[in-house]
Amino acid sequence: MSNKPIRKAIFPVAGLGTRFLPATKAIPKEMITVVDKPIIQHVVDEARAAGIEEFIFITGRNKNVIEEHFDQQYELETLLSERGKIDVLKELRAGLPQAGNVIFTRQQNPLGLGHAVWCARNIIGDEPFALLLPDMLPHGEKGCMSELMQIYQKTGGNLIGLKNVDPSETHKYGIASFDEDNSKNARAINDMVEKPAQGTAPSNSMIMGRYILQPEIFDLLEKQHADSSGEIQLTDAMRQLMKSQDFWGYEYQGDIYDCGSRLGFLNANIAFAMDDPELAKSVKKMLKRHVEKN
Ligand code: G1P
Repeated sequence: MSNKPIRKAIFPVAGLGTRFLPATKAIPKEMITVVDKPIIQHVVDEARAAGIEEFIFITGRNKNVIEEHFDQQYELETLLSERGKIDVLKELRAGLPQAGNVIFTRQQNPLGLGHAVWCARNIIGDEPFALLLPDMLPHGEKGCMSELMQIYQKTGGNLIGLKNVDPSETHKYGIASFDEDNSKNARAINDMVEKPAQGTAPSNSMIMGRYILQPEIFDLLEKQHADSSGEIQLTDAMRQLMKSQDFWGYEYQGDIYDCGSRLGFLNANIAFAMDDPELAKSVKKMLKRHVEKN
């Protein structure tokens, strides 16, 4: 098992976004904004704040606009500079990964999350890496990936962000179960299951889309068969890797919003708007008015 530092992160962005039609008919779901920033920008910012240096996007057809978003827009920048909009300009520049540190590769077939991650094997090479699923937007004092990086210093191995969900929701996610060990501020995972049938989940601990994984996962993903839905599941390959490596689960301290669902997306918008001093007061008033009206 490698204890090299985590420098690279994978962002799987090939999904079609069918849960969010018609919004996603012509634009990628990752480009929908939460307040005024595309979801993918929130997630890249989270990774950068955690110290990630290389950003690897697993894209698909019709996702080119994500690549455009992470490029410099000269005309726009010149215009902003001429008009003295220096703050906006600074923010745009701060959101860009360094030249040469952003890589786009395509998942040519929609064979599931496990296959998407496997597509990055040659780019990652022989080092542990971060994986961030852009559908899931954490919101807290500290970014989820920053918290995981800190915990990883103590645990090493493989580390997964977890969040307790209502038992009625467990069938929508990967679920982890544990040995009761809190010694390192993280719990040793003893099993995991992808989307258990309702009423059969071993716990309420949702695998929330933030991972630090060892590169040995790639060999297992290569051999992993598709499940009954036709997808190669990352959870199944992690379950195999558990036979030879430690897996730790860490309960994220903040909130998590599933932006693949309408309610989660609305929730995220309100939570992030409340962080903005220019918006917070008016948003509160707006919500109050809606509640009173209904
Ligand atoms: C994926 C993972 C699942 C995880 C979820 C979080 O599922 O397979 O384990 O809980 O992301 O969003 P998907 O949402 O791709 O179906």
